[in-house]
Amino acid sequence: MTVNDVKLVELPKYLDQRGNLSFVQNNAQIPFEIKRTYWIYDVPGGEARGGHAYKETEEFVIAISGAFDVTVDDGKEKKTFSLNRSYYGLYIPKGLWREIENFSTNSFALEFASTSFNEDDYVRDYNDYLTLKTNGEI
Ligand code: TYD
Repeated sequence: MTVNDVKLVELPKYLDQRGNLSFVQNNAQIPFEIKRTYWIYDVPGGEARGGHAYKETEEFVIAISGAFDVTVDDGKEKKTFSLNRSYYGLYIPKGLWREIENFSTNSFALEFASTSFNEDDYVRDYNDYLTLKTNGEI
């Protein structure tokens, strides 16, 4: 996988005077079956999240409120996506290093994952990541 496999997806949007509505479904806007959902909130100013890669997990990230930047890195190239609308989601395939930073006040990141939680799926050391990537093991 490379950073070119990361996709910004525009989600359906029902504009309504009563308030707008967007949605995601398995195997549609999200190109995998959702096994897990988690969210990140109350991030203090200046903090960063992520800082790891997954061996198998694919993810889909939405800025439900506020804004933040997601940087993906395949060991050769980096790309940063600024998420600041609740009707866009970022699909991140497995095997890429990722960081999330520049959280705005009251931002809320909703993340859908293709796997159940498993610490063994994480690569948390960047040099280990580069070695695995060079050897084609991630
Ligand atoms: P981590 O994925 O390292 O956070 P981030 O990538 O956002 O910086 O998760 C932090 C801790 O939360 C981790 O040590 C284990 C726990 N955790 C779960 O138990 N289940 C989950 O689904 C997630 C994402 C994390």
